[in-house]
Amino acid sequence: MKERRIVLGVSGSIAAYKAAELVRCFVRGGNDVRVIMTAGACEFINELTFRTLSRNPVGIEMFPAAAEWKPDHMSFAEFAEVLVVAPCTANVLAKAALGLSDDLLSCTILACRAPLVIAPAMNENMWKAPATQANVQTLQARGVRIVMPGSGDLACGWQGEGRLAELELIEAAVAEALDAG
Ligand SMILES: Cc1cc2nc3c(=O)[nH]c(=O)nc-3n(C[C@H](O)[C@H](O)[C@H](O)COP(=O)(O)O)c2cc1C
Repeated sequence: MKERRIVLGVSGSIAAYKAAELVRCFVRGGNDVRVIMTAGACEFINELTFRTLSRNPVGIEMFPAAAEWKPDHMSFAEFAEVLVVAPCTANVLAKAALGLSDDLLSCTILACRAPLVIAPAMNENMWKAPATQANVQTLQARGVRIVMPGSGDLACGWQGEGRLAELELIEAAVAEALDAG
């Protein structure tokens, strides 16, 4: 995977710290990486981490004070050769399935024509909830690549399904999406 333009969306999961390593892997591979954080993600990890590791400004605000003429969600959407959301919360998954666009990440997902890769991470009950499973099916039917969560210790103290997939699996799904595109 060389010199591709990757947009990484990070949402408000306890697994958000793992996205920092994902950025490092993408950058090490020679890719140009831009990160979008939800307000939820900013509760778990600092924007400075992603700015430094990606070597690019990070998108957070839908309506930034000092804006370029072009809306940020359109800039990110046009830049992306692949859009990957990792970790993806139940909330962002649901918004993507419904086509909601009330923040920078969801607006970019809706505006972007590049392949979409989603790596969900959440508590087992949230993952197995019929609403979440229906949203997964809706997205898969549209051609979205879902990198299924793994099983094991969950940060909420539970054991079960819902852990963010291993980073190698996410990288492989991104590479496959780029190859297919
Ligand atoms: C400690 C903690 C951990 C959380 N971890 C997750 C998680 O792994 N996955 C998830 O879907 N929601 C998780 N949540 C709930 C989300 O942060 C919450 O739904 C938030 O509104 C998501 O916002 P976003 O989707 O815009 O990032 C967690 C909340 C807390 C307080």
